[in-house]
Amino acid sequence: MAKIRLDQLTKQFGDVVAVDDVTLEVADREFLTLLGPSGCGKTTTLNIIAGLETPTSGTVWFDEDEVTHVPPEQRDIAMVFQTYALYPHMKVFDNIAFGLRMRNVPKSDVGKRVLLAARTMDIEHLIQRKPRELSGGQRQRVALARAIVRDPRVFLLDEPLSNLDAQLRVIMRTELKRLHAELEKTFVYVTHDQAESLIMSDRIVVMKAGGIQQVGTPDEIYNQPTNTFVATFVGSPPINLLEGKLKRINESTGQVTGAGFTCEMNPLLMKRLSHSATTSVRLGIRPEDIEVGTVRTPTAQATVAVREPMGSDLYLTLDIEGRSIKARTRPDVRIDRGEVVPIYFDSNKLHLFDGETGRTLLEG
Ligand SMILES: Nc1ncnc2c1ncn2[C@@H]1O[C@H](COP(=O)(O)OP(=O)(O)OP(=O)(O)O)[C@@H](O)[C@H]1O
Ligand SMILES: [Mg+2]
Repeated sequence: MAKIRLDQLTKQFGDVVAVDDVTLEVADREFLTLLGPSGCGKTTTLNIIAGLETPTSGTVWFDEDEVTHVPPEQRDIAMVFQTYALYPHMKVFDNIAFGLRMRNVPKSDVGKRVLLAARTMDIEHLIQRKPRELSGGQRQRVALARAIVRDPRVFLLDEPLSNLDAQLRVIMRTELKRLHAELEKTFVYVTHDQAESLIMSDRIVVMKAGGIQQVGTPDEIYNQPTNTFVATFVGSPPINLLEGKLKRINESTGQVTGAGFTCEMNPLLMKRLSHSATTSVRLGIRPEDIEVGTVRTPTAQATVAVREPMGSDLYLTLDIEGRSIKARTRPDVRIDRGEVVPIYFDSNKLHLFDGETGRTLLEG
């Protein structure tokens, strides 16, 4: 068992509040990701879980034990960093074995466990090499093998894939997910890559300026973002946000209108609409939820400004009365630059945010 609980955690470095009143529970065997832009406090939070930093206030719990002041080596955790932090003068075998030897594990066990970890990470054939004789991806596998070999109850990973090239990163994501499923251990993973967080996590914690913006499954974070920050941070190309005025026509119908567009709201959406909803709103629509060249009553007429073929998709930059939005369509759609096309915002996929605070106006 390894459940982790952070209770009202705050960490200040002088005037900087790196972590701001974070309360969070990580379930046993969960893959939880801390996601957010640079400087939002991800590493500091992870370091506090590891025991490498002491919080200014608040407590850390592993299962039913408070560990806030327990040193890292007594927490039964393994960390993997962005920089692999391998010993350059040691062979791969000895790099993986190092932690076991430090803990006086019997020699015969060390050999077995190192080989098993190397096999799990598919680097058995590399164990006699030095780190400098390895590629970036291979080095990261060694770093992971070194973490696995200790058989800790918690894995803490701080942007472990960000030094790899795009292709390797995609492979290693899958590997890490497989590893998590095999090991059945609690993983806390740090990244600023929203795609990575969506692909890998059981739950995502979106952070900004030291605080938590939203905690949820990838589906919740993507489809029910709690505010415009989460909505724009997650998803690529990002969600389109348009200033508009909300009008309730009756219980089950309503409209959002803005420069060059009129968007009808369906009864389901009206039901979710907060009673305190303001009239000044920001309408959110993801690129894939825009129907280009629609046969329905169009939300707007748009001019195609840029076409970006992506192989599997086509991205279109569309101008509506001087505002630019992005749509994602099938690659075989025949639309040229300069053409004016009717577009439709899927009313099941609309997001509505308060025009001032950016908070969602939709419930449930
Ligand atoms: N040892 C330190 N002394 C002073 N300020 C620090 C220290 N460590 C972190 N900070 C500050 O605390 C804030 C959070 O830093 P942290 O490293 O946790 O961010 P991060 O989310 O991991 O960012 P990145 O994605 O760039 O790694 C930043 O403003 C950073 O400058
Ligand atoms: Mg960091």
